[in-house]
Amino acid sequence: MTTTVENGRATTSVRLVEPADASAILAHLTEDAAALARWQPARPQGFYTGPAQTERIDRALDDHRAGRTWPGVILADGVVIGQITVATILRGPLGKGFLSYWVSSRAQGHGHASRAVDAVLHLMSTELGLHRAEAHTQVDNLASHHVLRTNGFSPWGLAHHHIHINGSWRDEIFWERLLG
Ligand SMILES: CC(C)(COP(=O)(O)OP(=O)(O)OC[C@H]1O[C@@H](n2cnc3c(N)ncnc32)[C@H](O)[C@@H]1OP(=O)(O)O)[C@@H](O)C(=O)NCCC(=O)NCCS
Repeated sequence: MTTTVENGRATTSVRLVEPADASAILAHLTEDAAALARWQPARPQGFYTGPAQTERIDRALDDHRAGRTWPGVILADGVVIGQITVATILRGPLGKGFLSYWVSSRAQGHGHASRAVDAVLHLMSTELGLHRAEAHTQVDNLASHHVLRTNGFSPWGLAHHHIHINGSWRDEIFWERLLG
């Protein structure tokens, strides 16, 4: 499934990740490793290799087939620039999924994450049939706050020492968006 949003400069689209995306994802994650270390958990040994990325994608697609996740990539004019994932999908009375994303530093600041989140929220309420989206951000991740606010998320709580990143336990804001 591909969703496309035009903005006059570049086209943003999202689709399910494929095994062939491993090399593009590896290139971005390797180039941005230092910057992403501030926002993402420490990576295990061997993470920055083709086989590790292929295995991650295979595992994500297995989880997708089991209905637990929707692992996507973000594209600018058809080229992979990041990832966007609906994880921890819970059905039944909760009907919710947890959203996370990153965009290559080369492609940041052009609205790609905001448009990708818009597209995936639509997918969550239609194809996935979910009722609610959730996300967490560190308190100083202002770009991510902006992406979520732009897409109608509201902050509903603060979790102290919620995630261990870059050597410290970090507080995180919890965000929610009803999918109506
Ligand atoms: C967060 C992230 C995905 C945003 O990607 P992006 O494609 O640049 O996002 P967008 O261009 O859609 O929107 C970013 C907005 O935040 C604003 N912004 C960026 N840095 C900012 C800062 N330090 N303070 C305030 N606003 C900021 C931008 O100006 C932009 O606003 P605009 O739409 O009014 O121009 C990207 O920075 C990233 O991958 N960061 C590292 C990983 C990460 O933090 N993931 C999210 C974890 S919760």
